[in-house]
Amino acid sequence: MDDESVKNFSELQLSYEKFRDLARNKSLSRFEKIGFPNSYRERYEQYIFEDICSKVTNLDEKNKSVLDIGPGCSDLPKKIIEICRQNHHNLVFCDSEEMLEFHKEEPFLHKASGMFPKNINDIKNIEQKYDVIICYSVFHYIFVDTNVWDFIDQSLSLLNTGGQFLIGDIPNNSKRKRFFSSESGVKYHQDFTNSKEIPEVNFNTIEYNKIDDAVINSIILRAQSSGFDAYLIPQNQKLPMSNRRDDILITRP
Ligand SMILES: C[S@@+](CC[C@H](N)C(=O)[O-])C[C@H]1O[C@@H](n2cnc3c(N)ncnc32)[C@H](O)[C@@H]1O
Repeated sequence: MDDESVKNFSELQLSYEKFRDLARNKSLSRFEKIGFPNSYRERYEQYIFEDICSKVTNLDEKNKSVLDIGPGCSDLPKKIIEICRQNHHNLVFCDSEEMLEFHKEEPFLHKASGMFPKNINDIKNIEQKYDVIICYSVFHYIFVDTNVWDFIDQSLSLLNTGGQFLIGDIPNNSKRKRFFSSESGVKYHQDFTNSKEIPEVNFNTIEYNKIDDAVINSIILRAQSSGFDAYLIPQNQKLPMSNRRDDILITRP
């Protein structure tokens, strides 16, 4: 693949393995290595971080254990490192070796390389339970790459009493369709494309590998029936894809 075709992220069909290739590709920016065009991330990561902190309030406490599944290598994981340094948290980053290499050694930062949840035992060997689990903009790859229920169940098994698990930035195809068939969605599309074009929205079709309301609500039900509280929450509207993405917050009572 040449560099230009690599940068056509929407057509790349990214996966854990493809992210390893992006991480190795020296021609890509730190945002492109995690599959985003620069314009989707470079001015927004502070807002994303603030949105995460407003939901995962345990980050503001002291001496907690924090797990980030799929931190990548842009500025967002650096902000997570900094809040963990300030609040004396123990932090575990779980991602490929290629991504983890971008983060310099810190006494409170542990690296569990490999694909979650296959490497769950390595993660448990660092800490048995976590007060915070963040999985931001990763679930749609896990959905295609591995058994979703194994991912949910294994993540829940790591959560401490009072712990918070954020599955953030989930592209919800149902929400996308609701938006692009609304008046505001049509206007958004026309402003974005600088045209009078009506966005194409198809209902009642099989959509392979796409997450919809059914998937999102099943995850919430799965967590609830396993003894956890679970909530579907919106993103701050300042975030670039808030009109078509959802966050799930799961807590252990
Ligand atoms: C779109 S990036 C998101 C990075 C970061 N969370 C953020 O929002 O800036 C997806 C990241 O998840 C990692 N990833 C994908 N599947 C994974 C899995 N099953 N286990 C661990 N990491 C995974 C990729 O290597 C990549 O670094």
